[in-house]
Amino acid sequence: MSGIVLIGFMGAGKTTIGQLLAKKTNRNFYDIDQLIVDKIGMSIDEYFEKFGVESFRKLESEVLQEVIAEEHVISTGGGIVLSEENRKSLKKLPHVIYLKTELTELIHRIQSDDENIRPLAEEKSKDEIAEIYLPRVSLYEESGTIIVETTNKLPEEILEEILKQVGE
Ligand code: S3P
Repeated sequence: MSGIVLIGFMGAGKTTIGQLLAKKTNRNFYDIDQLIVDKIGMSIDEYFEKFGVESFRKLESEVLQEVIAEEHVISTGGGIVLSEENRKSLKKLPHVIYLKTELTELIHRIQSDDENIRPLAEEKSKDEIAEIYLPRVSLYEESGTIIVETTNKLPEEILEEILKQVGE
């Protein structure tokens, strides 16, 4: 049994789907953002403000290395594919699921999410979010071994599609 990693932009549903997938496939679930929060003892928002984005990226890569070799379901932060080293690590895995969602839906989800504070998207206009999203698209596509369209789909439908694609 190998691990399954979920990638995609903010608001793609990586955490929600990851939890369901882990339950269904009897794997442990790890959310890289949550592991970072546990490690640093503060919110990601606070960390960005105190130490900046580059420092966050270092931590993110470290935590990815700590969990990647295991047979877990791992949900990543939307920026995981920005590092070449991370992309190389992801390329070694059989199951990297890119949760692909239309930009308009992502923007809607990000802007109506009151629970998660995302420092890069906070108080940003649609155009500014698009500027973050567009250069990442090819990186998600290059890193995903499986691409699952999630726009207008229910979590259960997405889950079914993933299970079919990974052959479980
Ligand atoms: C980020 C996405 C966030 C979090 C951080 C940076 C990004 O995770 O890691 O705020 O650069 O896209 P989610 O994709 O889970 O929102």
